[in-house]
Amino acid sequence: MQSFGKFLQSGDWKGEKHVPVIHAPEKVSAGEEFEIKITIGDAVRHPNSFEHYIAWFKVFFHPEGAKFPIEIANFNFTTHGEGDNFTDPVGATSAKLSKSGTIYAISYCNIHGVWENSKEIVVE
Ligand SMILES: [Fe+2]
Repeated sequence: MQSFGKFLQSGDWKGEKHVPVIHAPEKVSAGEEFEIKITIGDAVRHPNSFEHYIAWFKVFFHPEGAKFPIEIANFNFTTHGEGDNFTDPVGATSAKLSKSGTIYAISYCNIHGVWENSKEIVVE
């Protein structure tokens, strides 16, 4: 069997325009609502054209000590220049956590594949 994991690429989002950027607090209180916002190209803008675009983000949370991650959001961007209209690759949701853990974001470029990033979050 081949593992899909070998396709996941990563890097520093400040130099690599495909890496999803996770905007979330470093610390939150248990049960406190906060925003998780995923962007891309914060430092180096990714193209958004009919030929070359970011198609989606998927977001997971892995609570410390848990066996599996929890899928918390999906963002699909479906307009890339049709009639000069665009959906920019920005996704936001609110969340409440009960345990510290790690947020994972995965992005997909139709030409350059699948990219990942993660951010630890402390729940007090
Ligand atoms: Fe790309």
